[in-house]
Amino acid sequence: MNFNRRQFIKRLVLGLASVEAFFLLRNGVGNNAPDTNAEGMVNLGKVDSFQKGNVYPFVAHKLYVKRMKDGGFLALSNQCTHLGCVVNLNPQSNGFSCPCHASHFNENGEVLSAPAPRPLDQIPIHIKNGELFVDLAHPKKRNAYEKNQLTYA
Ligand code: FES
Repeated sequence: MNFNRRQFIKRLVLGLASVEAFFLLRNGVGNNAPDTNAEGMVNLGKVDSFQKGNVYPFVAHKLYVKRMKDGGFLALSNQCTHLGCVVNLNPQSNGFSCPCHASHFNENGEVLSAPAPRPLDQIPIHIKNGELFVDLAHPKKRNAYEKNQLTYA
């Protein structure tokens, strides 16, 4: 084969991009391969893989998992309580924002600005053998965030 320098660089860049895309898809946060156990819970992975103070999106399961600085877990539906649009993480407020009608939620999913009528729904969490499971079949409507909504390992 007769490669010139430009062709070589082009193929090298494409090759590296492919390798990176593979690893991002395989290892990315929010890797959403369904893993449902016998009780209908979805396994989101090892407790230790969630760092304190971080929020993890699980798009396929329509939720965010937040690990508090004290280690407690809170899972929130990503569906706005106004008309159900998917809310986005808002890096400026550490909360969530709805792109449809501009509702804003604080870091615990409480409403900061309407039209959302109530906080983001809480998704029950169960921890078994060091693994974190969410019960997607039983979301809970809330009026406010309370510390007893947290689950600890
Ligand atoms: S659906 Fe979110 S503000 Fe309307």
